[in-house]
Amino acid sequence: MAKSIPKDFIDSLIDKANIVDIIGNYIKLEKKGNDYWARCPFHSEKTSSFSVSENKQFFHCFGCGAHGNAIGFVMDHTNKTYPEAIESIANTLGIEIPRDKETSKIYEARKILKDSLNDAKKIFENQLKNSENAISYLKERKISGETAKKFQIGYAEDDFQVINKSLSDAYTESNLLDAGLIVKKDKNSYDKFRDRIMFPIHDQSGNIIAFGGRILKEDKEKPMAKYMNSPETSLFSKKRVLYNLHLAKQDKDSKEFLYIVEGYMDVIKLYQAGIKNSVATLGTAVTQENLIQCFKYTREIICCFDGDKAGEKAAWQGVENIMPVIKDGDAISFVFLPENHDPDNIIEKGGIKLWNECVNKKISIEEFIYIKFSKETDLNTAAGKTQYLQKADALLNKLNAKILKDIIYEFLKEKVGVKYIAENHKQKTIVNNKQYKTTSPLQKAILILLHNPNIKINEDLINDFRIKDNQGIVLLKSILDLIKRNKNMKLGGILENFRDDKQAYLSLEKISRMPITDYDYPDKELNACLCLTIKNFLKSKLKDIDPSNLKEFSTAQQEIREIEEEAKNY
Ligand code: CTP
Ligand code: MN
Repeated sequence: MAKSIPKDFIDSLIDKANIVDIIGNYIKLEKKGNDYWARCPFHSEKTSSFSVSENKQFFHCFGCGAHGNAIGFVMDHTNKTYPEAIESIANTLGIEIPRDKETSKIYEARKILKDSLNDAKKIFENQLKNSENAISYLKERKISGETAKKFQIGYAEDDFQVINKSLSDAYTESNLLDAGLIVKKDKNSYDKFRDRIMFPIHDQSGNIIAFGGRILKEDKEKPMAKYMNSPETSLFSKKRVLYNLHLAKQDKDSKEFLYIVEGYMDVIKLYQAGIKNSVATLGTAVTQENLIQCFKYTREIICCFDGDKAGEKAAWQGVENIMPVIKDGDAISFVFLPENHDPDNIIEKGGIKLWNECVNKKISIEEFIYIKFSKETDLNTAAGKTQYLQKADALLNKLNAKILKDIIYEFLKEKVGVKYIAENHKQKTIVNNKQYKTTSPLQKAILILLHNPNIKINEDLINDFRIKDNQGIVLLKSILDLIKRNKNMKLGGILENFRDDKQAYLSLEKISRMPITDYDYPDKELNACLCLTIKNFLKSKLKDIDPSNLKEFSTAQQEIREIEEEAKNY
């Protein structure tokens, strides 16, 4: 869908929308000097390190490294997809999005899907009102009418044709199949969910995207899946979605911490008891997508599991899944409830008091890792200790958060009294992993250009044949082309134009985060960087020349001296 919104429309949107106004719609900005400042909405802080530059149409947080243009801000802050963010900005400005045929088709299809799920929800809710069985089941599970309403709980009758018939006027068979509301076998279609308590599953913005259905009675004679979910659709992906995130994220406690539990019932019962900051995975271990989503809203996630073997296994699977996406500063802990208990029956047994007692026994991720590895090895022997450290090494190798990695490794070593430090875990001094520094003159050149798009660059240097194949030069040239075509292009707009070119986008994004010096003559500085790039190229070429080939060798040396001379002009 993103691709089908015309590129030049996005450019003009970025051009028309003032980032200060857009961000100002969401948070209070204060003007200091040239820029606007606020406390960062993406991490908790006491002082303002979040800056918005009107000049550059770009925001940047000096505390957590968050950065981007107006579209990026709306995406991150309101959890919108790229096209949704564009739509929201266009709406604010009262601009109509031009939709070509292809776009309209996809847009229409998603709308039909959402509408049909919403209509089905209403039918399920009505059926619940008329089903004594379903009502008494919910009563037995101590779910109040108010709670059922809040979670839009419904009931799918024990009938093959309720949804199929009632929705057949408004939707085609293929609409309902796409939505996963009906299934088809040998040319006959019928309702997918029958005789089940229905839990609507929402996306972060509160749209229904799927259902989970629970059977009322477990029958040993006729074993059936206790829960059944909608199939994966263009709206619903099981491993991405967290049940109740749309409500939980609105709770004030969520800023501090968010519980991740295992079941719908757990979330619902916690909510009913007044604990509104919990979400549930949908029968999967915690995934990378889950973690990334949660940390948009909270400082700490507390994963809660049944204290039995299966619970520990699911928890560990989660740890392995999320390692690569944990960031420095993310707090992750685990609660293992008494065996055969889930949050639902803890609340049933002892209410919030017992729940808090359990939560107070939470352990940190490093403690969990220690417990797991120490169980698997014999720490009384050198070999066992070695195996323990090898396991730690293998796991932590997947962790990209540098500071946390060192700290956990230290912790794991100290636990078993080992002083040995593996090479790749030697303490490094990390100032702020989110602030990259330029590592090559070319990166610096791009950084200067991004911040000074109207700069004058020596065309001869840019087009120097010796560096024409350099990827960075190719990128630099395409930025220059872009600026030539759009005189008003600022950092935010430039970045936006590369969104579809993944590799270029990642490089530019990284470079745009690097600290920039306010040069008196940025043009000279940039030209000097280009000279240096040529010099570096020549130097590496020189290494490949056999010094006995005197002519070639001295020509290359001569070239180096010349470019050094030229650099002195800048
Ligand atoms: N689940 C599933 N399919 C199953 C069993 C479970 O998708 N056959 C998912 C559901 O999302 C469920 C979660 O895993 O909410 C947790 O399962 P379980 O602990 O078995 O269910 P509870 O939440 O305890 O459900 P209940 O209390 O209703 O028995
Ligand atoms: Mn349960």
